[in-house]
Amino acid sequence: MDTQNNVDVKNQPTKIRFEYDDDEEAGTLEEVATESSNLEEDTAMCEPEDSFAAGDDKTSADYYFDSYSHFGIHEEMLKDVVRTKTYQNVIYKNSFLFKDKIVLDVGAGTGILSLFCAKVGAKHVYAVECSSMADMAQEIVKLNGYSNVIAVLKGKIEEIELPVAQVDVIISEWMGYFLVYENMLNTVLYARDKWLVQDGLVLPDKASLYLTAIEDADYKEDKIEFWNNVYGFDMSCIRKQSIMEPLVDTVEQNQIVTNCQLLKTMDISKMTAGDASFTAPFKLVAERDDYIHALVAYFDVSFTKCHKLMGFSTGPKSRATHWKQTVLYLEDVLSICQGEAVIGTLTVAPNKKNPRDVDITLKYSLNGRHCQASRTQYYRMR
Ligand SMILES: C[S@@+](CC[C@H](N)C(=O)[O-])C[C@H]1O[C@@H](n2cnc3c(N)ncnc32)[C@H](O)[C@@H]1O
Repeated sequence: MDTQNNVDVKNQPTKIRFEYDDDEEAGTLEEVATESSNLEEDTAMCEPEDSFAAGDDKTSADYYFDSYSHFGIHEEMLKDVVRTKTYQNVIYKNSFLFKDKIVLDVGAGTGILSLFCAKVGAKHVYAVECSSMADMAQEIVKLNGYSNVIAVLKGKIEEIELPVAQVDVIISEWMGYFLVYENMLNTVLYARDKWLVQDGLVLPDKASLYLTAIEDADYKEDKIEFWNNVYGFDMSCIRKQSIMEPLVDTVEQNQIVTNCQLLKTMDISKMTAGDASFTAPFKLVAERDDYIHALVAYFDVSFTKCHKLMGFSTGPKSRATHWKQTVLYLEDVLSICQGEAVIGTLTVAPNKKNPRDVDITLKYSLNGRHCQASRTQYYRMR
């Protein structure tokens, strides 16, 4: 999840690749959760002064620097059922991974993953959250009767002290747009290297980035070429900036012109922080005659230590998630014939000045019957 929110939704893809079931299993466990909740007793109307006290004294400036303090971003993540149900199913259907284990929840937010783990019998869960949502997590844990199992620790993983030397399991939802935007992966790797017992588990343990190519004439015209003529004036200097910013949006399945190419798989249990910077070659072969206006990146994550492989995809052929896809518009419009290939490399690295931002270098070429092109483009996710 991350904090970029000025995105348009063009459509909602429907297919999903991983085995995944919305309704299964959770029903019975949710019933138990409802029974043990003491929510009703505590929902009396607050006095106005209470509500200001509880509603905190944050201003928009606080949220600008710490968007995870606001409940809205957590609401969006929790309502992403592909995301949240996958974590729930992983935990509920594989309780053997958690039973009597010490679990560290890296970036706990509302504490939802900690609650899932506590419910299936974790011995102790440390829920670490740096934003002020930690205060809510603390209250949520209490409301649901898990104060004896879950300890909420408010602070940065890199700065807090854990009351134990080692943990058996690290669970985290750290993925950003384009997988690595926001750079929270480093925080998980830091926690792994500091506290995870030998042969301990990191969940999820695999993440893969993919690339494909799409036809997107209308949207490119609307978002990029728009700046060439604005009410009769040339604003193409802004066009240069707009094409450098990857667009987070959903892509229709029928826009896809080529195969989907795996760029990089990260093994979260073994990789180093440096492995998140890489150059990967690609070859995108056209499956029909068409135009290509953009390349599209998306990711999968998987939990390979489950009974059965579990995970989810954020690709355009799968059910949409709040991560959508990341669209990199090309300077050229490539006219491609079936069987021809766009080849090149994609280089990904955290920005040196602000490691939460991602620098992307795309080198591509096409040597086709109707179109020859070769170019290097630079993008920055910020
Ligand atoms: C994508 S959210 C996931 C929240 C929750 N685990 C869930 O699944 O709904 C990531 C959370 O990690 C927190 N976070 C990011 N970096 C952190 C760090 N270095 N230490 C502690 N928490 C961090 C953010 O404030 C945010 O609430």
